[in-house]
Amino acid sequence: MEEIKFNQIGVSFKGSGSYVPDQILTNEEISQKVDTSDEWIKSRTGISERRISRVEDNVADMGYKAALTAIEMANWDIKTIDLIVLATSTPNDLFGSAPSIQAKLGASNAVAFDLTAACSGFLFALITTSQFLKAGNFKRALVVGADQLSSFVDWNDRRSCILFGDGAGALAIEATNEFDNFIGFDMRTDGERGCFLNLPSKNNEDSIIDNIQFLSGGFSPIQMNGQEVYKFAVKEVPIILDKLFKKTNYSSDKVDWLILHQANQRILDSVGDRLRIPKEKILSNLEKYGNTSAATIPLMIDEAIRNHSIKQNDIIATSGFGAGLSWGAALIKWG
Ligand code: ACO
Repeated sequence: MEEIKFNQIGVSFKGSGSYVPDQILTNEEISQKVDTSDEWIKSRTGISERRISRVEDNVADMGYKAALTAIEMANWDIKTIDLIVLATSTPNDLFGSAPSIQAKLGASNAVAFDLTAACSGFLFALITTSQFLKAGNFKRALVVGADQLSSFVDWNDRRSCILFGDGAGALAIEATNEFDNFIGFDMRTDGERGCFLNLPSKNNEDSIIDNIQFLSGGFSPIQMNGQEVYKFAVKEVPIILDKLFKKTNYSSDKVDWLILHQANQRILDSVGDRLRIPKEKILSNLEKYGNTSAATIPLMIDEAIRNHSIKQNDIIATSGFGAGLSWGAALIKWG
């Protein structure tokens, strides 16, 4: 890793990428499994369909494919990448899936590690990575968000299984001494309310020898109190964004795009209303993908970059929220 010595280091956004599995599960199809309907799901969430990983897919593969397209957009030599942070709650290796992405890419000069913060994961990873760049430790970094929640959903629980899908997204970001496009951030956790959304370990008692017991590892499916998570999101997200606007001397009318974690269209609409951000500035693709956890924000950014909605120097306010409970916000300028 080449050491950089800038007086003042900022962050520049150089590329985006994404990947979703090709297997589509529609609302109609879910209603063959649980007592629900396309009409109920659409009207309560805005979701029409979601992607489900094929059995041979995993988080590292999805993350790798998303990362590769971000690198291509950034036009980077892969050997110049210094850091890869993978936000995921569903690694295919509990010891970390980021090293596998590093190996698949051949990014042999990069340090790579996982970061877990559920649906806030991408935002927390973006903030963490930006701080590494601004501190002068690294020059080029990939921030990847990838999740395969289909493996951990209770497909018999109609209150939660309708929400989630699989996917990955990535941003290529770089340190620069010319400007700083990472304008500001804030992040919060309230573990007291963590019981509203969990993917808890499920351990079975077993013994190694007669008087030495141990707990074998495993996980229970996602447990969610949807109403409490909903109330949490529509209350806390506008507060943290409003605080961030004040802290950075911005206001909601200076924002070109609001990109929220894609959990539920009603949450997006309610946050937009509270911040007085018009609907045309609130990006949404959850109709096609549902809630892909750590992947939703980069997946949305990549779609909007590639269809030319987001342009160079556009101001993006973004917020992630979810299990923990955790939430955060960042204000960035694209480019
Ligand atoms: N189909 C038909 N009926 C349903 C379904 C379904 N899929 N799910 C629930 N119902 C029923 C309930 O049983 C209930 O019936 P009842 O009144 O007879 O008891 C009724 O519909 C209303 O249920 P609510 O839970 O009040 O429905 P609500 O309007 O709150 O919508 C939803 C539920 C969509 C889950 C909503 O609460 C929500 O989106 N919450 C946020 C969840 C979220 O975003 N979680 C992820 C966070 S990110 C992360 O970290 C992973």
